[in-house]
Amino acid sequence: MKNIAIISPSVRTGRNSHRIALYLKNLIRENGLASVEILDLLRYNFPLFNERLKYQDPPLKEAVDFAERIRTADGIVIVSPEYNGGSPASLKNAVDLLVEEWNKKPVAFATVSDGMFAGTQAIISLQFSLSKLGAIIVPSVMRLPNIDKSFDENGIPADKHKTDKRGIAFLKELLWFIEAKDRMAG
Ligand SMILES: Cc1cc2nc3c(=O)[nH]c(=O)nc-3n(C[C@H](O)[C@H](O)[C@H](O)COP(=O)(O)O)c2cc1C
Repeated sequence: MKNIAIISPSVRTGRNSHRIALYLKNLIRENGLASVEILDLLRYNFPLFNERLKYQDPPLKEAVDFAERIRTADGIVIVSPEYNGGSPASLKNAVDLLVEEWNKKPVAFATVSDGMFAGTQAIISLQFSLSKLGAIIVPSVMRLPNIDKSFDENGIPADKHKTDKRGIAFLKELLWFIEAKDRMAG
């Protein structure tokens, strides 16, 4: 079984995007698609890094843990809310922490917002950064508008049937890229 890590990046008080991380985790489990864990940047409570992990001396223990989970994941889902047309600084801080861990790593994005445009602008610069790092960017994006209303605090969607259909299709795209990479490597 493949192993997916979901990055939940918001450290904001009263955050809503964590609902989507919970939703996708539940969806993966309910459908037996992969094993899954959430890498919650609120819990990691990272400082603003003054150097990449491989040059830190000594390295921050929590950063080593995060790096290892990214390294061992077969694929990553990044839940990205939109902050002023970009992604949260907490997320860029965590992306720039690592180098080799991103190389050839399939990464899929779920963009979220409490507005009607689903935070789609947030990922443009992030996709570019990750592609510079050699990540495999999954073209399918799950776009989720009005998340404060369409999901509850536990990540249960208001319209489960419709949302699950989209979510499964999105996750299957990520799994396709994971398997394609395996075939190329094998
Ligand atoms: C600093 C800040 C900037 C925001 N900028 C945008 C934006 O440019 N476009 C948008 O659709 N929503 C924007 N929003 C609304 C967020 O998408 C919404 O609050 C979302 O829930 C944020 O994720 P979070 O609750 O997990 O922090 C912004 C929110 C914050 C806090």
